[in-house]
Amino acid sequence: MAKSRTFSIIKPDATRRNLTGQVNAVIESAGLRIVAQKRIRLSDAQAKKFYEVHKDRPFYGELVSQMTAEPVVVQVLEGEDAVAAYRKVMGATNPKEAADGTIRKLFALSIGENSVHGSDSPENATIEIAQFFTDADITG
Ligand code: CMP
Repeated sequence: MAKSRTFSIIKPDATRRNLTGQVNAVIESAGLRIVAQKRIRLSDAQAKKFYEVHKDRPFYGELVSQMTAEPVVVQVLEGEDAVAAYRKVMGATNPKEAADGTIRKLFALSIGENSVHGSDSPENATIEIAQFFTDADITG
């Protein structure tokens, strides 16, 4: 499998608890390379657009308000089959179902405050990366 990229967000519940470095250590230990990264505050419009696919779900309003309340760290990760590799490292969306050693098992507070987001397909990875980074921002 060739190298590919995925998009990651370290969410406010993790940045608030000063866990960025610990999350990154798990990412890097899994063989993924952080090839772009920045700490930003999402605007309401950015968060609504990013999570538009969930706009009819009951948790959408709370999700947008949580994601805009405090800083996030947006990242591009590179590695073999990066989307699948990162999903494995993140663990299940609900931390109660996440496997031992995964980011969500280690750090997540709840299904809503689940510490990280990762793209669910290579197609969405390309779309999500382009919402926050240009090609010039991404180094090898
Ligand atoms: P994420 O991978 O960022 O994608 C959508 C987010 O919605 C998810 O992680 C959770 O943080 C949040 N969320 C809140 N409640 C739910 C729920 N019941 N099911 C799925 N996602 C939820």
